[in-house]
Amino acid sequence: MRDYRIAILPGDGTGREVALEASKILDTIAANTNFGFEQMEIACGGQLYKETGKEWEEGSFELCRDEADAVFLGAIGHPGSYLPNGDLAGGSVILGMRSGLDLYANVRPVKLFQGVLHKVHGRFTQIWQPDMVDMTILRENTEGLYYSLLKRASNRAQGLEDYTIPDMEFPDLKGEVAYDPRPISSHGTERLVKMGFDIAQTRNGAPADGVSKVSCIDKSNVTRGCQLFRRTFDQVASNYPSITTDYGYIDAFTQWITRNPEHYDVVVTSNMFGDIATDLASILQGGMGMAGSGNIGDDHAFFEPVHGSSPKYAGMNKVNPIASINSIQMMTDWLGRRNQDEKLLEVSKLIEQSVEDHLKEGKMLTYDLGGNASCSDVGDAIASTLAAKLSEL
Ligand code: IPM
Ligand code: MG
Repeated sequence: MRDYRIAILPGDGTGREVALEASKILDTIAANTNFGFEQMEIACGGQLYKETGKEWEEGSFELCRDEADAVFLGAIGHPGSYLPNGDLAGGSVILGMRSGLDLYANVRPVKLFQGVLHKVHGRFTQIWQPDMVDMTILRENTEGLYYSLLKRASNRAQGLEDYTIPDMEFPDLKGEVAYDPRPISSHGTERLVKMGFDIAQTRNGAPADGVSKVSCIDKSNVTRGCQLFRRTFDQVASNYPSITTDYGYIDAFTQWITRNPEHYDVVVTSNMFGDIATDLASILQGGMGMAGSGNIGDDHAFFEPVHGSSPKYAGMNKVNPIASINSIQMMTDWLGRRNQDEKLLEVSKLIEQSVEDHLKEGKMLTYDLGGNASCSDVGDAIASTLAAKLSEL
């Protein structure tokens, strides 16, 4: 069993608390197997910027790029912390890595575990059935409406010259005008869609019928970028004859995933649509506290909960660490596949089973799932379930 080096970036607010629980899972693996997980902690984020004028120490981007096998990020965002140019402070961390490390796919699984109730209209209920929600959404992560923001952030992260967007004129518009171009390329779309089809080959198909399917979600009835996205999707799809294709417009998609989540297996979409759709989709799995993600490219990856820094809960040891634990599960799966490390892939499955067992038992849950356990209590409980499973490995 080999050693892995993991950069841990706690970031802002509750990101710092959930990062401790993510780190606890890595420690648990190291303590109960022959794997080594060397963790390098890097301070970063909007609060650090407010305090020191730096989003992270110089050399941090290079450390993540050159020294780490994988990166975990807690959350970025501190109230009122913006750069002089108006961009989010801490952006060079999250957006700088997405663009600077060319992490073109933001992979966001949406799975409802047994025992998880949903807090919808103020009460905990079981609206969606656990065996009916199991999809993976891939959000394009390096272009689209985020393009110029991503370029500014990644140039900043690497100490490169500031990125400025090309001039455009809108002579008929009155008053001040601000714009964000939304470039979508065939290359960026092709690699994202290809990863979507490759992931579909590793899954069990849509819950409704077990049929492997990739859904292309866009707005190709109105925008040119989306027309290119869909055309490229079709070209890639022709190389995967055994996988069914499916199409939807983003507006209609929001109602279809709410009404019939069982229809979806793998979904591919552009950057901003994916940002919005995955917050909505997290409700199908019990909320943002459950949603883990991976920002994945060909050579690098970082893993983070989909939720933000939730400043109103910061320092209270209250938020759900499961989104972060699920992100560590994704990290070990990615590392295992990348290094053909079968043992690590087994560990990854055991992390998922530990979360599953914990939720099925339903005893120790954070407030968002109807309980009153603390963040660290839930992390401890899942870590000890995992430790017991690892000892049998
Ligand atoms: C996300 C977040 C980020 C985004 C923010 C924090 C920049 O909302 O990861 O979904 O907009 O991509
Ligand atoms: Mg978001």
